[in-house]
Amino acid sequence: MEKKPVMLSGDRPTGRMHIGHYVGSLANRVRLQNEGKYQPYVMIADMQALTDNARDPEKIRNSLFQVALDYLAVGIDPAKSTIFVQSQIPALNELTMIYMNLVTVARLERNPTVKHEIQQKRFNESVPAGFLTYPVSQAADITAFKAAVIPVGDDQEPMIEQTRELVRSFNHIYDSKVLVEPTGYFPPQGQGRIPGLDGNAKMSKSLNNAIYLADDEDTIQKKVMSMYTDPNHIHVQDPGQVAGNTVFTYLDIFADDSSYVAELKAQYQHGGLGDVKIKRYLNEVLQAKLAPIRERRAVFAADLEQVSKILETGSAAANETAEATLQQVRDAMGINYFQSAGRR
Ligand code: TRP
Repeated sequence: MEKKPVMLSGDRPTGRMHIGHYVGSLANRVRLQNEGKYQPYVMIADMQALTDNARDPEKIRNSLFQVALDYLAVGIDPAKSTIFVQSQIPALNELTMIYMNLVTVARLERNPTVKHEIQQKRFNESVPAGFLTYPVSQAADITAFKAAVIPVGDDQEPMIEQTRELVRSFNHIYDSKVLVEPTGYFPPQGQGRIPGLDGNAKMSKSLNNAIYLADDEDTIQKKVMSMYTDPNHIHVQDPGQVAGNTVFTYLDIFADDSSYVAELKAQYQHGGLGDVKIKRYLNEVLQAKLAPIRERRAVFAADLEQVSKILETGSAAANETAEATLQQVRDAMGINYFQSAGRR
């Protein structure tokens, strides 16, 4: 059988997923999965989530199932993708320890995404060592599956770069070809990110400006009707701004009828089109997109035992792959003292 290149993606389970995750990454992953060119692995990164939530394992545990439901709801298909749980793959921890010796503290401190998160989370002088080093653990995730393609948002670029460096170091130092350099697969320029309901550049749980994949019809409607538009568009007959108007940003992303959206924009800029009307249209568009996702989610949510089985089966398969890579890594380093090669 011909072997397809491996594609790996993952998410930290810290809450339910929202339409920002959908646009930025989930939709892409489902499309790539269904194209069938890659062998997809999808990982719920609970160990990585613990690096800044060590005191709240309950949150991670609950979110694990929420994320799994969101995956299944959007169409990640366990018959095509291996869905697994990071903490259930012991080889990842051993690979992390091995790679830790190939990276300097200074290099870790320079990682722009980690740097930004440290500021954002106000760790100050109290950065957990596990948090500072999570890019190394992410390199273990990626290399354990010899993943070639990593579909992620732009903020993950530094992780891919660090992984590539580690792969080169390892293969060079241990004179091996065991590890594979990954390539990031990013959303097209400007399409990967949607603003929050309040117009903030980022949609996130902590900013309380998100529409969740699991939101019910009423909740979606309420959120849409409260969205940020043009603050200077006070009377219906006033000309309104389209640029920076979150309702139009969402319509550009979600509405299939782009010529109708263009008409609405022209009318809005001219004056005479009220915010309520464009919001009602956006509500219709979003309800139509999200209803099938929500319905599929509910079917799986009613059978958590099945979801658990999917994760267990996926984790067992992922474990075998990661163990095999770890064995090759140990062989390459010559630290397989007591077994003949290939056995542990
Ligand atoms: N850091 C990723 C995020 O925050 C999650 C993640 C962990 C990941 N391991 C990964 C993504 C490996 C891709 C590949 O979204």
